[in-house]
Amino acid sequence: MLRTILIPNFIAETTRKTEEHMENDIIFEPLRFRNLTVKNRIFRSSISGRWDNYDGSGTQARINWEEKFARGGVGAIITSFVPVAIRGRIMPNYATIDCDDRIPFWRKVGEKVHEYDCKLILQLSHSGRQQDIGGVENSGKKALSSTSQTEPFHGFLCQAMTLAEIKETIQYFADGARRAREAGLDGVELHSANGYLFNQFLSSGINDRQDEYGGSLENRARFLLDVIRAIRKEVGNDFHLQFKISAVDYNNAVTFWEKPGNTIEDSIQVCQWAEEAGADAVHVSTGSLFPHPLNPIGDFNFDIITKTYDAMLSSGIETTRNYILFRKAFLHPIFNLLWNRVKKQLPPQVFSGDYVKDPKIKQLLIENQGRNLLDSREIKKHVNIPVLCTGGLQQASYIRQAINEHYCDGVTMARTLIANNDLVKSFKAGKDLADKPCTYCNKCLLNVIENPLGCYEQDRFNSYEEMMEEVMSVFHEPQFANLSR
Ligand SMILES: Cc1cc2nc3c(=O)[nH]c(=O)nc-3n(C[C@H](O)[C@H](O)[C@H](O)COP(=O)(O)O)c2cc1C
Ligand code: SF4
Repeated sequence: MLRTILIPNFIAETTRKTEEHMENDIIFEPLRFRNLTVKNRIFRSSISGRWDNYDGSGTQARINWEEKFARGGVGAIITSFVPVAIRGRIMPNYATIDCDDRIPFWRKVGEKVHEYDCKLILQLSHSGRQQDIGGVENSGKKALSSTSQTEPFHGFLCQAMTLAEIKETIQYFADGARRAREAGLDGVELHSANGYLFNQFLSSGINDRQDEYGGSLENRARFLLDVIRAIRKEVGNDFHLQFKISAVDYNNAVTFWEKPGNTIEDSIQVCQWAEEAGADAVHVSTGSLFPHPLNPIGDFNFDIITKTYDAMLSSGIETTRNYILFRKAFLHPIFNLLWNRVKKQLPPQVFSGDYVKDPKIKQLLIENQGRNLLDSREIKKHVNIPVLCTGGLQQASYIRQAINEHYCDGVTMARTLIANNDLVKSFKAGKDLADKPCTYCNKCLLNVIENPLGCYEQDRFNSYEEMMEEVMSVFHEPQFANLSR
């Protein structure tokens, strides 16, 4: 008798506590920027995959892909790398924003995610010298950069932009922002991190110019600040504009003979200037290379890179060296030594999330979750605009603590949502961690050069067929929808 009275009481009490807990949960409090309010604190970070047509026009598969995350409950989606010019793309088959013809496609993407009360932020991007596969339109042309120094990891050739080319590129970004606005999107993000064009200007390890765009930090920041001002001039002050920054460059992480590049102090100053110039938020990342040992942090899978890196063989003068390093098992320790070197410099985690029973997952979280948070907190102390942080985040209790203790105002997630598209919904239902979390294996990343983007960690699925079913699901209905307007 006592038992039958106690059990319903216990259930009622637990339900009440869960509801109270959700009511006060910072994860589900709206995040207010100057021109934009997002319904919760979780953003889908930008993830590039080869979904689109060769010429940069978009496809239904891309719309289906973005819809997955909106349906899964994220407050906002930051699109993939969206080139503002064909000369600045990383690979073919990425939708671009380089001409007005692209506006109807992006409008479709925006409308689809808006159906879920999710915002869409377009990532305005330019590869600079970090161009993995230039495509036929760029063949015979060197990539444009802040420098004429060959990119050291893959050996991509490049030439320093003239002042006229800099001015032209600034306008490309302003035009891109105008198109995003005309498409009814909710804002833009400048991809000024991870070794792409902005980072090539910002970094003291890469930028060797002698003119007003090189030398002092003020000069190196000029290109980013010019773009922010040009966008403001083009779209006004009431359109959301954020920028992504590599808080620390670690420019010599793998190629140890390079200069180390920008420090956290440099980046804090850049963030303050960007705020003054009109940026509404900063998104904190790391590393002046992509991928970089710290971004996306985790494993480096030789089986996969051996199968996909051949697509890049003709792109750079060091790609053959790398291919041999990847293919020959006896050389793997050398590559691993270089790749893992910088990870050992990281300070230990300052906190961990709730207890995790599985020892393997617990260890993976200790090593990889929230590795940019200390940098994010330093930047947050010195700016007034909201700060978003990326990097390994996938546990509700950890994210909650990071926001409550002012390490950041919101988080962005990429692989951890590829693995579990509906993670935000499950956080809302009271779950702390997915049943099958992302293992940071980076198989999604290394596949993406040639194969469709998706989770390729077979242990997370019951079979290879089930994994493929999930990877290919974005190509299903509705195919061949009419994208024109
Ligand atoms: C396949 C893949 C593609 C990515 N593409 C981009 C991109 O286009 N632009 C960008 O800023 N970051 C890109 N990233 C980095 C992510 O946005 C994110 O910042 C990083 O993976 C850390 O978050 P995570 O640990 O949740 O994956 C990419 C990451 C992956 C795995
Ligand atoms: S393949 Fe899957 S488990 Fe591995 S990093 Fe990517 S999303 Fe995570």
